Amino acid sequence: MAENFMHAVQYDAYGGGAAALKHREVGVPSAEKDEVVVKLEAASINPFDWKVQKGMLRPLLPAKFPFIPGTDVAGEVVAVGVGVNRFKAGDKVFAMINPFNGGGLAEFSVVKESITAHRPPEVSASEAAGLPVAGLTAHQALTHLVVVPGQQPNILVTAASGGVGHYAVQLAKLQNAHVTATCGARNIELVRNLGADEVLDYKTPDGAALSSPSQRKYDIVVHCATGIPWSRFEPNLSPCGKVIDITPGFGTLLTYGLQKVSFSKKKLVPLLLNPKGKDLEYLVKLMKEGKLKTVIDSKHPLSEAERGWARSIEGHATGKIIVEP
Ligand SMILES: NC(=O)c1ccc[n+]([C@@H]2O[C@H](COP(=O)([O-])OP(=O)(O)OC[C@H]3O[C@@H](n4cnc5c(N)ncnc54)[C@H](OP(=O)(O)O)[C@@H]3O)[C@@H](O)[C@H]2O)c1
Repeated sequence: MAENFMHAVQYDAYGGGAAALKHREVGVPSAEKDEVVVKLEAASINPFDWKVQKGMLRPLLPAKFPFIPGTDVAGEVVAVGVGVNRFKAGDKVFAMINPFNGGGLAEFSVVKESITAHRPPEVSASEAAGLPVAGLTAHQALTHLVVVPGQQPNILVTAASGGVGHYAVQLAKLQNAHVTATCGARNIELVRNLGADEVLDYKTPDGAALSSPSQRKYDIVVHCATGIPWSRFEPNLSPCGKVIDITPGFGTLLTYGLQKVSFSKKKLVPLLLNPKGKDLEYLVKLMKEGKLKTVIDSKHPLSEAERGWARSIEGHATGKIIVEP
């Protein structure tokens, strides 16, 4: 490959799924003010990436075609722009790329210094690349928990085997919560090993009802699945319980609005990730200390990134899907 060119994965239009991803040689990006160029060692795929391709966020995203998807990356700094103080060439880092820019499925990416963190040697590039969108979302959802001194909070995590859910279970346990989790039968043992106290198979009547086997009422639900109506959550909540819905649709927004005007104590709260660099540092510190881990569903070379893409679209990943340049 000629210098200043790199291998990247792009798509040219909405739709088409994995088959529409093209492998191309494009120019290596350069750093502008407050930006860092990273030579990638790993990236991770999120449902967000293929939802953008599907056109679910049009006309906002993608900002333009052709588009290199991917927001979550880990690698080595090769250049820094004006104003960058915290990083220098040779540093191992991980970061969340601005979703409007994309660029994660490539050999090099440009990231903002503010949403980049150092990766300690104890944490592999793949583990770190799993963290940005999924880890930050799990962390942000749990900031809604109000811990009452002397009381153990009860938390439900739906889709606990997925990218966000598997981090949410671990982070909830670190808050000393009692955790109930839902997942498919094949992942019950794994989710238990992540720390969940009670695990429900979502395909059974008990799992579908979401009720805790020990009759606990949930203070917070980190809701990572889709298609569960408010009426199913409501009887399982404590008097001021909240469902943090990370896949809010029209129904969630309507319920949220109605609850606002009726001063309902139980709440359905839509969540949109607001990424913060300091939260990346918090999460990777937990990983370094062995308190948080990334479960890796599968790894795919960049030359076969479409396999990882298809795997994410299928909706059955256990943990994170990693792409390696
Ligand atoms: N609002 C935001 O800012 C934000 C941020 C991040 C993610 N999200 C959204 O959150 C959702 C979850 O993201 P993710 O990365 O965790 O997805 P993911 O990794 O693709 O989740 C896949 C997992 O979910 C499980 N699952 C699916 N339906 C389930 C159900 N009804 N009950 C229990 N488990 C179920 C699957 O288990 P089986 O294989 O056994 O079916 C699979 O293990 C996506 O829709 C994503 O777009 C939103």
